[in-house]
Amino acid sequence: MNTPKYVAKAIEPITKGKVFCDLGCNDGSFLKAVKAKKKFGIDKYEENCEIVRKKGIDCYCQDVKDGLPEADVYYNFTHHYEAKKALELLPKGKIMIFGATKEKMKDYPEEIKKIRINIDKWQIAIVCS
Ligand SMILES: C[S@@+](CC[C@H](N)C(=O)[O-])C[C@H]1O[C@@H](n2cnc3c(N)ncnc32)[C@H](O)[C@@H]1O
Repeated sequence: MNTPKYVAKAIEPITKGKVFCDLGCNDGSFLKAVKAKKKFGIDKYEENCEIVRKKGIDCYCQDVKDGLPEADVYYNFTHHYEAKKALELLPKGKIMIFGATKEKMKDYPEEIKKIRINIDKWQIAIVCS
């Protein structure tokens, strides 16, 4: 499942003019919809990265648990265990936006539940380190 494109539109005030990284970008369809100064994705599967690169978007084969690449704003819709680990790695002054359906968001770590916004059936949580 990919994050709906209307979520990309909703987070535009945060992503516009920034370096944006989709952590676990799958086929890049959400990433493609995001407006940013520079954008790229990482995914743990090389097959996914190849699909994203074919769309003209940079993508690196990397596991979020091994570290975060340099960016201003990260988007995270990996499994909640990976989400927790990625949050621990978030550098000071950076933003991580978690996105999931309202149902799935219940499994996510308590720390991310401070700023939550409902966007139709979707929910995002914004964390500033
Ligand atoms: C649900 S899809 C989300 C796709 C996209 N970010 C979006 O929001 O539409 C989750 C993606 O995260 C990738 N993924 C899961 N765990 C990961 C990890 N530990 N490191 C990197 N990628 C991961 C999966 O391969 C999958 O493509």
